[in-house]
Amino acid sequence: MKSGNSIPLLGLGVYDMYHQEAELAVLNALAIGYRLIDTASMYENEVQIGNALQQTTIPRSEIYLTTKLNNTDHGYDQALRAFDESLEKLQQDYVDLYLIHWPIKEGRKESWKALEKIYESGRAKAIGVANYTLPFLKELESYANMAPTLNQIEFTPWLFQKEVLNYCQQNNIQLQSYSPITRGQKFNDPRLIALCEKYQKTPAQIILNWNIQLGVSTIPKSSKKERLQENFDAQNFSLDAQDVELMNTFNEGFRICDDPAIFL
Ligand SMILES: NC(=O)c1ccc[n+]([C@@H]2O[C@H](COP(=O)([O-])OP(=O)(O)OC[C@H]3O[C@@H](n4cnc5c(N)ncnc54)[C@H](OP(=O)(O)O)[C@@H]3O)[C@@H](O)[C@H]2O)c1
Repeated sequence: MKSGNSIPLLGLGVYDMYHQEAELAVLNALAIGYRLIDTASMYENEVQIGNALQQTTIPRSEIYLTTKLNNTDHGYDQALRAFDESLEKLQQDYVDLYLIHWPIKEGRKESWKALEKIYESGRAKAIGVANYTLPFLKELESYANMAPTLNQIEFTPWLFQKEVLNYCQQNNIQLQSYSPITRGQKFNDPRLIALCEKYQKTPAQIILNWNIQLGVSTIPKSSKKERLQENFDAQNFSLDAQDVELMNTFNEGFRICDDPAIFL
């Protein structure tokens, strides 16, 4: 069984933005046309995201809101409690998607059972996971009554996790990429610069379009209005199939965040 409504292919990640900055970024993003907001208990800005959602005139039903279970809140009862706290901070009756943030060894199974319970209550329209590479996905399959709707992983041309992409496609799990533009760290790759020249697009736009062409939902973070617009406009063109294929060969195992294998 699967849960949830359709997920936008491009949204706003709100890691590392706080107070007014977070509120304003969400309002600016919504005004530009973003309809997916990705936060987490760990980001300590659920209150500000909630404030922005209270202020916007865009109907709640048009916005796809994700939050995540913190690493310190694993276990059945703790996860149920943590979800209630997130909803309260977000000032919401429901979220569109609730994710396990990291596959913490102690408690991830019990936490998934709690997420299934939360889904049944209707207060999360969909449930899913983050940082679940193949061993974690296969383990989850062995005890889950519900399959995850989405798996959010670090996924870029320089960390092209083809086996996770294939597994998710085969099992009808939406893949979503985090740190999609490598926080700018690969913008000087000459192969990327050549594509920027060919399409007259920015490095961020080329990388984000690569995600979209692969059917991978992506959540770049920016708190700057011009960059929010730039990133959103990545949806307005199409890379040729051969250039998508070319970018698939950039893989070099480059990571921004921890390798989830530390939790095996
Ligand atoms: N599940 C997980 O474990 C996990 C882990 C990491 C991230 N995430 C999620 O993924 C989201 C995105 O990942 P991320 O924040 O790590 O990295 P990212 O989106 O790859 O990069 C964000 C950084 O790039 C800058 N930036 C944004 N647009 C730009 C552009 N067009 N040109 C140049 N620089 C630009 C931003 O600065 P400014 O804000 O100053 O523009 C920020 O410093 C997070 O916000 C979070 O929601 C999830």
